[in-house]
Amino acid sequence: MNALTNAIIRFWQSSIGKKLIVAITGVVLVGFLIAHVGGNMLIFAGREAMNDYAYFLHHFLHGAGIWIFRGVLVVAFVMHIVATIALTKQNRAAKVENYQNEATNVASKSSRVMIWSGLTVLAFVVFHIFHFTVRVDPELAGMKESSGRHDVWGMVIVGFQKPLVVLFYFVGISLLCSHLSHGIASIFQTLGWRSRKSSEAINRLGLAVSVALWLGFLSIPLAASVAGFGSDEMETPVTDIADVTEEKR
Ligand code: HEM
Repeated sequence: MNALTNAIIRFWQSSIGKKLIVAITGVVLVGFLIAHVGGNMLIFAGREAMNDYAYFLHHFLHGAGIWIFRGVLVVAFVMHIVATIALTKQNRAAKVENYQNEATNVASKSSRVMIWSGLTVLAFVVFHIFHFTVRVDPELAGMKESSGRHDVWGMVIVGFQKPLVVLFYFVGISLLCSHLSHGIASIFQTLGWRSRKSSEAINRLGLAVSVALWLGFLSIPLAASVAGFGSDEMETPVTDIADVTEEKR
């Protein structure tokens, strides 16, 4: 084994090494969520704005951009989960040795909550990818503009007409945001950016980002299902959209 492999193994075996992996991949994932909720807000700007945006994402760097981005996201997501599970096991083993230590018990209780909310979020993400990216529902997969472009805007509006789907999004996104309200502050802690003085402000920042993401993400299924957003436009056949030009194919 060479020195680099040894260093990587030692890094992985140490508790701080795994915490750093969880924190750095956490930054990537939170960054993705902020960008995703921002992009999703285009739903409220209308069908053309949203579909132009989705078209841009799928064709950036001649289509390679989305695959690079997906690669980074999958690696970050898998590393985040694997390192968290390994860290929980390591903490549990340490807890057996120090069972009388109050602080260790408190820490492992909160990490237990984190791991369960994290695993539910994983189930939500798998469902969401089958729902809107793989599009297993033929009705959603078949939604097209007259140019042949996929009608992402229409897919989201129609996708949220089923109360059970909306309920699942509500539960998944709420758990995700409760996971983040603890996770964002932990990132600062692990990276050594949290002092006794800044601790309260960092907790508030974590909470503010989580609440903003919760409101932003949930505004879409709630607008489409409860407030009837987009229902007028959905009555217009997609083939009647006049402003979709040939070059946008
Ligand atoms: C209700 C809120 C949300 C809406 C309306 C929404 C909408 C979408 C849509 C339309 C796509 C497919 C884009 C396309 O292929 O053109 C997508 C993909 C995706 N979304 Fe969401 N999303 C929401 C919440 C979330 C949340 C909370 C997460 C993370 C926990 C998430 C993670 C993803 C991922 C990982 C993809 C796959 C990206 C790719 O194509 O590679 N989304 N979302």
